[in-house]
Amino acid sequence: MAYELRSARYLAADILERAVQPGDSVIDATMGNGHDTLFLCGLVGEGGRVYAFDVQQQAVESTKKRLEESGVLSRAALFCLGHEHMAEKVAEPVSAVVFNLGWLPGGDHSVTTHWETTQKAVESALSLLKPMGVLVICAYPGHAEGDRERSALTDFLSALPPQRFNVLHQKFLNAGPGAPECFTVQKQRIVG
Ligand SMILES: C[S@@+](CC[C@H](N)C(=O)[O-])C[C@H]1O[C@@H](n2cnc3c(N)ncnc32)[C@H](O)[C@@H]1O
Repeated sequence: MAYELRSARYLAADILERAVQPGDSVIDATMGNGHDTLFLCGLVGEGGRVYAFDVQQQAVESTKKRLEESGVLSRAALFCLGHEHMAEKVAEPVSAVVFNLGWLPGGDHSVTTHWETTQKAVESALSLLKPMGVLVICAYPGHAEGDRERSALTDFLSALPPQRFNVLHQKFLNAGPGAPECFTVQKQRIVG
């Protein structure tokens, strides 16, 4: 099949497929309807672990059902808890952390991610990453809070020390100002 450049979420999936190995532990910081959680359960395999967070019980229920139907629920730990608390639930280093910012598709648009809590969660994610692990964030600047969050995220990630992290920002330049964007951070290998 011909390779096709598609949305930020496909760019994120490409990176995750390369970075996550069977047996790894990973984090889905925004569970939503569980599409990313299911994808990660597939990548980590039977011996791996996916920690997933969302503030809405509706998201947890929807994700639980999706994982049950695919027979992979035992690979996941689902928390109805803000991602800013992830360090309280995850003790081991992880090979990937995924954020899909914004609101639950088909749900309440007033329950959206906000930079203040996203920043705390991103800081926790960066410390939980193992060397060569990746943080992948899809951001949606097409609404006021999403635009504010994307701008603050860009400033925050731009200031990360290059000796410790590589930071990549991908967006489709001709898709209009509200198009989704993909940010990837890789923790550097420990040297010496
Ligand atoms: C765009 S949706 C995620 C979609 C999801 N990854 C999927 O595959 O279906 C964003 C989710 O972030 C959740 N959210 C908002 N604030 C949060 C927080 N502080 N911690 C964790 N999740 C949060 C929302 O409830 C919403 O379900």
